[in-house]
Amino acid sequence: MVGWLHSGGSTYRWKLTVRLITDSGPIDIRVECPMTENHPVKPQGGRHNLDPHLDRYAARTAGMTASEIRALFSVASRPEVVSLAGGMPNLAALPLGTLSTQVAEIIAEDGLVALQYGSAHGIPVLREQICEIMALEGISAHPDDIVVTVGSQMGLDMVTRLFCDPGDIVIAEGPSYVGALGSFTAYQADVVHVAMDEDGLVPEGLRAALEDAKKNGRRVKFLYTIPNFHNPAGVTLAVERRAEILEICRTYGVLVVEDNPYGLLGFENQIYPALRSLDPDNVVYLGSFSKTFASGLRVGWVLAPHAVREKLVLAAESATLCPPTLNQMIVSRYLSTHDWKGQIKIFQENYRERRDAMLSALEQQMPPGCSWTHPDGGFYVWLTVPEGVDTKAMLPRAVTARVAYASGTGFYADGFGSRQLRLSYCYPTPERIREGVRRLAAVLESEMDLVRTFGNVKSRAISGPESPSPDTA
Ligand SMILES: Cc1ncc(COP(=O)(O)O)c(C=O)c1O
Repeated sequence: MVGWLHSGGSTYRWKLTVRLITDSGPIDIRVECPMTENHPVKPQGGRHNLDPHLDRYAARTAGMTASEIRALFSVASRPEVVSLAGGMPNLAALPLGTLSTQVAEIIAEDGLVALQYGSAHGIPVLREQICEIMALEGISAHPDDIVVTVGSQMGLDMVTRLFCDPGDIVIAEGPSYVGALGSFTAYQADVVHVAMDEDGLVPEGLRAALEDAKKNGRRVKFLYTIPNFHNPAGVTLAVERRAEILEICRTYGVLVVEDNPYGLLGFENQIYPALRSLDPDNVVYLGSFSKTFASGLRVGWVLAPHAVREKLVLAAESATLCPPTLNQMIVSRYLSTHDWKGQIKIFQENYRERRDAMLSALEQQMPPGCSWTHPDGGFYVWLTVPEGVDTKAMLPRAVTARVAYASGTGFYADGFGSRQLRLSYCYPTPERIREGVRRLAAVLESEMDLVRTFGNVKSRAISGPESPSPDTA
């Protein structure tokens, strides 16, 4: 029995009436459980009936809200719906036979290590291999400065935990990765967005935001940036801007957190110099095997300046004791025995084919007044719709028309983004992508008709950034 009931001036924890239908008519049996000292009175109201723990949550949970796409997920994941909402990597090209043999070998040969606790730092051999991977982006690092994490999402959480007090400012691109916004909100940091253009973060915007914070006596803790194949914007920070952005952050005494899960997924196999390679002492770098190998293994890493690394290990210890040893060993064996660079090329080709399908479908189908980005790597296209159309309000109608996307407001901490939406091309087949875009174009056409007839189509207000979920990752 759930809930707190009041009746006739007395308070009960619960009250139940059971009606028995007997041969001689109905008999009501009333069971009452009154309040006692051990079970004090709880405040009344519908929300308390739904969640009797409501008064116990920490203040920092106030900004935690579920992703709207998650709410629609049970519908959006039906096979007849083309989902362009999710950021799930397409793993079909992985060598599953080889991997299953390797997992069996690891357990047979080294099972007592693989299934045991490990160090919070991560296994040494994997940290060395991670250094080799980062060298591709010009990073020179020592394995001691790497902390292996449970996906880079854990890295984001730890970095925010280490640096942000309530009310501190984090600067992020507008739009930004929904999972990062969720971490910043959870630690009660205030996010200030800086605009991007087709060359990524705009340096003048960054300078202006930092100057503004300084004038207002606000503390900016770090710039959070996704320089390559941005999620959700699909753009890449121009190489010429990188040194300037680092210089601005140094001038204002602000740390840079570089999140780079897509950096090796350029469609021409192009690799950009990591911000970390240009300023090792002021950049914390987050990496991940989720998009270049297997997201379900949940293996990522943080490379931090030496002093920060000490604290990260302590934070990792208190969060998870250690990252899963078996998963680290699987990643390590894969890297040492498999042509992982060749595998990444296969991923690049798959994603490029899907990107091409999406861009040409958009070109052919989208109504006038829409514009979108042209990614040269990664998973996402960022679409802007004509004035008056609200992508959050439109989403249920799109799902009814059997297409799903992620509406733009989830990628901002401040309610912006109602004219934008994110389309992911990573997972569906090219045919499904074309069909999804065709359906979306039809929904947009009718939405624009509505706007022409009745004016703006407003969404329900749902404030605050949304919590991440695999479907909006
Ligand atoms: C920009 C960005 N950062 C971090 C993550 C989290 O990745 P991981 O699976 O390594 O936790 C994602 C996942 O989509 C992402 O897009």
